[in-house]
Amino acid sequence: MSIDQFVNRHIGPREYEISHMLQKLGVSTLDELIEQTVPGNIRLKESLQLKKGLSERKYYRKIRELALKNKVFNTYIGMGYYDTITPAVILRNVLENPVWYTSYTPYQAEISQGRLEALLIFQTMVCELTRMEIANASLLDESTAAAEAMSMMYELRSRAMIKNRVHTLLVDEKTWPQTLDVLKTRATPLGIVLKIQRLEDFEFTPDVFGAIVQYPNSEGEITDYASLIEEAHEKGIKVAVAADLLALAILTPPGEWGADIVFGSSQRFGIPMGYGGPHAAFFASKAEYKRNMPGRIIGITKDVHGNRALRMALQTREQHIKRERATSNICTAQALLATMAGFYAVYHGAKGIIEIAERIHSIAVFLSEKISTYGYRQLNHTCFDTIRFALPEQVKRKDIERFSLEREMNFRYFQNGEVGISIDETTNRQDMEWIIEVFARAANKPWEPVKQYPETVPVAQPFRRTSDFMTQEVFLKYRSETDMLRYIKKLEHKDISLTHSMIPLGSCTMKLNAATEMFPLSWIEFNGIHPFVPGNQALGYHSMMEDLRQDLAEITGMADVSLMPNSGAAGEYTGLMVIREYHKSRGNPQRDVVLIPASAHGTNPASAAMAGMKVVVVACDSGGNIDMEDLRKKAADHKDHLAAFMVTYPSTHGVFEASIVKMCDIIHQQGGQVYMDGANMNAQVGLTNPKVIGADVCHLNLHKTFAIPHGGGGPGVGPIAVAAHLVDFLPSHPVMNNGHRGIHAVAAAPWGSASILTITYGYIKMMGAEGLTQASKIAILNANYLASALKDNCGILYTGKNGRVAHEMILECRHLKDDTGITETDIAKRMMDFGYHAPTLSFPVHGTLMVEPTESESLAELDRFIETMNQIFEEIKQVKEGRAEKTDNVLTNAPHTAMHVTADQWNHSYSRQQAAYPLPWVCENKFWTPVGRIDNAWGDRNLIGTYGSPEEDELFKKADVQNPK
Ligand SMILES: Cc1ncc(COP(=O)(O)O)c(C=O)c1O
Repeated sequence: MSIDQFVNRHIGPREYEISHMLQKLGVSTLDELIEQTVPGNIRLKESLQLKKGLSERKYYRKIRELALKNKVFNTYIGMGYYDTITPAVILRNVLENPVWYTSYTPYQAEISQGRLEALLIFQTMVCELTRMEIANASLLDESTAAAEAMSMMYELRSRAMIKNRVHTLLVDEKTWPQTLDVLKTRATPLGIVLKIQRLEDFEFTPDVFGAIVQYPNSEGEITDYASLIEEAHEKGIKVAVAADLLALAILTPPGEWGADIVFGSSQRFGIPMGYGGPHAAFFASKAEYKRNMPGRIIGITKDVHGNRALRMALQTREQHIKRERATSNICTAQALLATMAGFYAVYHGAKGIIEIAERIHSIAVFLSEKISTYGYRQLNHTCFDTIRFALPEQVKRKDIERFSLEREMNFRYFQNGEVGISIDETTNRQDMEWIIEVFARAANKPWEPVKQYPETVPVAQPFRRTSDFMTQEVFLKYRSETDMLRYIKKLEHKDISLTHSMIPLGSCTMKLNAATEMFPLSWIEFNGIHPFVPGNQALGYHSMMEDLRQDLAEITGMADVSLMPNSGAAGEYTGLMVIREYHKSRGNPQRDVVLIPASAHGTNPASAAMAGMKVVVVACDSGGNIDMEDLRKKAADHKDHLAAFMVTYPSTHGVFEASIVKMCDIIHQQGGQVYMDGANMNAQVGLTNPKVIGADVCHLNLHKTFAIPHGGGGPGVGPIAVAAHLVDFLPSHPVMNNGHRGIHAVAAAPWGSASILTITYGYIKMMGAEGLTQASKIAILNANYLASALKDNCGILYTGKNGRVAHEMILECRHLKDDTGITETDIAKRMMDFGYHAPTLSFPVHGTLMVEPTESESLAELDRFIETMNQIFEEIKQVKEGRAEKTDNVLTNAPHTAMHVTADQWNHSYSRQQAAYPLPWVCENKFWTPVGRIDNAWGDRNLIGTYGSPEEDELFKKADVQNPK
């Protein structure tokens, strides 16, 4: 093992440890184990045709070279993306900090209080700026948020509207083109008719259920929508407003007009443009619609001791419960970016944000006046940051373009010849001067230097905001870097991430996110690029993305890849839409049935419903495998309408089903397409692939298998790979040519969350063909090692033909409840006392735990985990045998907080040491949960989704910290 080879840093177990583990499993080589695990008929005959892995140093040089091929110009294109300044304290301590970026979605609230607090602050900031009552903790991007608003308004139709099949949505044509395009994609399968028209032509006829407008609109003009909303409401029609969050610091917030939904992007709040993403979309609404909100809402509740605590509220597990009836398919969102945006607001406070917004506005007004003196006609009557010019007759647009490029600047060029300029937070005196220079030169006029920033110009009435915002303590306290740093650290210390211990979440692949893979995210050459700049300014990006597409095509065996979807669920939706279009192109638009196994992840049926498909559930047999007879029967029953079969492989039960090829054949014989959910791709890379098993489309969760960190619940990237016959249907983009000409866009940006593709690129380049294959093998080895060590104590629910699991396993815990009253939740919470994040709880089988160690965990860590689990099973045995009390034991009272353990009173039947230090090594790295067990139901009954509200004060200020029980 050479220290130069990255694979040896990525993979946990050393060579001698691998031998030891294999011996424990009773096999002599790794390949023997793989033969026993992966069915022979789907094994790849040849190794992957990828280049040899680079050392970290060589890769660093390579990615630096690519970075330098990108040209960072000052870009004034706007259109939803603006340059911004990420405060260094946030860049270094959040974006570059593995505690924040490697943590998982906060399902386990007790060890996630830091990121829950950060997301609550994001929600509060959104509510304050929009003046809405409730906000979620982010969506994927502004355009998909528009689509969610459309679906939500559609869902909220009155009974009479539903009865009368009211299905028209009015959309102002002056909405971002990418948003219009995503709306087109998402409206069609739902049967929603979009009327994209001029605002002046809006008519609230009886067939209309909702309207979407943009504020300021896509040309930069501000409109007061108060009377429009009033008129709509009189007819029972809902209105959603796409808003610029920064503008709302000085413009009347849509909540004050009574808007039903306000959504948009929080990118301007310190999130680099990154050639299109990732950025957190925000989504806010009225409290009465809280149950229809897409995505996750963080809410306040109390813990078992009565103290304030946070957790995800309401529809947290919605897709798993409601499946095809779920409100949306959003699972992974943009938690890390929402955290950063919220911290940006904390650091600047309302005063700072107003200052930034006012400066932007004043520069826009100043430039408007200056440039107009050269004969240009500024067309926007009112503006926040965007001015738009009609050129004098003698001025050629191409001169403006040429002169601006000489000054390394990009403007927006409208098709009708007008030129737009959107000012941002970074625009300085020199930039103003250069902008003026370009317009003066093109008009052949002299210009003068700009000596200082213009005086502040207030926004014209009636658009000026008069209401206060962000008056809560958290937005007032942290102005110095020292204070901000300590605040970020205070929150960070409340969370478990991969920096602490293995996160054994089945189906989530919490592997190493290597430091070298993360470097480029902080470089301006990658993060400072607007997605709509001319292609020759992003040559490094294009070279990287082209290479990555080819590598992913090779890994999946598919013909081409779309990088556009920005989560796994978004990939599912895209894949199904591609299949839909394929059937349509062959004269089979009636094919709308999707067969989905009962064991599937909830996003599968939710995505199918969004793609306008009908879900038919296929049963699983007692071995956890898809019931072949049921599949055959249902495929035959629906043969004329069969669109697709969605299958996760290896299965969500953690098994390589030997009959997968047969399953795909059955579907193909009946004219259907096979969609493979690639969440479990970590067990496949280099060993088999979606094409070999018989799939036509698959998505990959780059935030699982391909090393993008989970960020506490996003960002993610869910590219889809397709076979040759589906390439023509891959999603296009209305502004940029992204190489595909198929369905309308599925995301705002042409290449989705482009900047984080560098992480996957680094992973593949440094691992190389051999390293990737080795990773899959070790992932399988680690899982089987755990399974063999744990099986006697708890039982492994499903195994393959040879008794092997794939890369994850389900621990059987259901019998424990009957025997002892101890539940899988008690086990999960008790693991926190040992410093572990729980495995996946109750998915895909209720009452069980699903464990996935990944290849990155060392033998020592696996052994610590085994020791933990065995100790917990011993503790359960004590309850069973009456040696511990049924209702007062280390499990039911877990997790134990420091306050609880050190309280003056201790009335439990077990010792403090047993509670806090159950094994000797726990004290070396003790993690104290900041709160005790969360009361979920209480929080849902008393939903408070903002920070520092009077309701919260009422509940917690006077509630003295209760004496721990
Ligand atoms: C099997 C499976 N499918 C789909 C998804 C959804 O992926 P995402 O969260 O990226 O939308 C998950 C997420 O955990 C999953 O485990």
